[in-house]
Amino acid sequence: AVMMLLNRRTLLASGGLLLAAACTRKFGSPERAGTLPIPRLVDARQHGQLINLRAQEGETTFFPGRRSATLGYNGSYLGPTLRVHRGDDVTMTVGNSLSADTTVHWHGLLVPGELDGSPHQLIAPGATWRPTLPIRQPAATLFYHSHAHGLTGEQVYSGLAGMLVVTDEEEQGLGLPSDYGVDDLPVLIQDRQFEDGRLVMPTGMMVASQGRRGNTILVNGAPTPRADVPDRLVRLRLVNGSNARIYELSFSDDRTFHWIGTEGGLLARSVELQALTLAPGQRAEILVSFADGKPVALVTAQDASASMMGMMGGMGMMGDHHDDEDDASTTETVLTFSPRPGLGGRAAAAVPLLLAARTVPDPEAAVRRRRFVLNMSMGGMMDSDDGAYAINDRPFDIDRIDEEVGLGDVEIWKVSGKKMAHPFHIHGVHFDVLRRDGDDPDLLDQGPRDTIVVKEAVELLVRFDQPATKAPFMYHCHILEHEDEGMMGQFTVG
Ligand code: C2O
Ligand code: CU
Ligand code: CU
Repeated sequence: AVMMLLNRRTLLASGGLLLAAACTRKFGSPERAGTLPIPRLVDARQHGQLINLRAQEGETTFFPGRRSATLGYNGSYLGPTLRVHRGDDVTMTVGNSLSADTTVHWHGLLVPGELDGSPHQLIAPGATWRPTLPIRQPAATLFYHSHAHGLTGEQVYSGLAGMLVVTDEEEQGLGLPSDYGVDDLPVLIQDRQFEDGRLVMPTGMMVASQGRRGNTILVNGAPTPRADVPDRLVRLRLVNGSNARIYELSFSDDRTFHWIGTEGGLLARSVELQALTLAPGQRAEILVSFADGKPVALVTAQDASASMMGMMGGMGMMGDHHDDEDDASTTETVLTFSPRPGLGGRAAAAVPLLLAARTVPDPEAAVRRRRFVLNMSMGGMMDSDDGAYAINDRPFDIDRIDEEVGLGDVEIWKVSGKKMAHPFHIHGVHFDVLRRDGDDPDLLDQGPRDTIVVKEAVELLVRFDQPATKAPFMYHCHILEHEDEGMMGQFTVG
């Protein structure tokens, strides 16, 4: 509590735009255009372990003078950042003011099946869902989003997503930057299609195969914004909340940064990198130093499949700023940083080498191997017939249990795909990559993970510690249109 007070006070003393950004979230006001919006932080401990979320319709001004119809939680687009503490039980009250069914899935949270917010916990229009979530996992950056089967892609695209942060004493003891909105920044990245400054919903044949993509990158709901940051070490919580796009992230000056966390939480040791891949559903925490005081941008390689669709033309997917489709080296800006001396008023933190201790199951302990093949029908991109998207040739069926797993079991899941990279996600677990394409895993594959890019084949070592008997867990491709089209299955744990 003392720490929190101190943070508040230094924040107040620092004044300026960032203070405004940390306290309010007005997408609509033109004077704030261009600044990174910081979603409101809702810490469960400051609210008696009760958090209210309401899915609602709204209007959002992404570009001055242009209003778009959007969806959000407790606001017009996206939702607040929810912070929960390991060991606590947090009750979520989730209301639905939409005219359609919805759910709220706690992606990455380790809770039993009936609390997961999967397509089995539908919230009808006007209804309320009230799960009490036991928080029993290490500190991590998670996110929450709609998971109503068949509507997930559209609802997330329209804004139904937000960040969920788990904290614990181990993480707090590391001295990592943790002043929310100052040196600990939520960075939720999404590409969206804008025409004449208004958000449009891509439709058509290409949408099923390539997923909904767009000509504009939003961070926390703002088009390629700028963040004022202190001129020292800053922590970025990167979440890829896009429907389909994979980002190859780096800094415009190729500076080195430290990768400290993945979907399941902190790594055992920090890793120095210059580039990081982030697929839909994946998260990464990084530490980057702005001590040189120089403005710099977080950039990504351009989207090859969006460019390809642009060249094929007529799909309504392309804006006009992809002139250099043929130039593979062209990058696109995601977020720019303006270092401000003394912002936040704290001493520089150092990068801890050792982060979180964690036990990985012994592969020898695996009691079973299962095979999953992600299917897209022959003809690939041009084919979006029903049944074209499946796992092991079976399109998703909410009334069919595909796999049954024993509680506490360790298994090896071999997942393979063809034609394109699929981000494969399993609910209710964190896993490790054992092998990739018949070889040792990549440096960037290290765990704990809940979503992993499958190109040819990955072998995942998974321990199932959460029961799923009252409602099953899902596994699926996190290209949301593949998921909605049927590239999803479900399993019980009991
Ligand atoms: Cu982030 Cu089953 O989803
Ligand atoms: Cu999930
Ligand atoms: Cu896929």
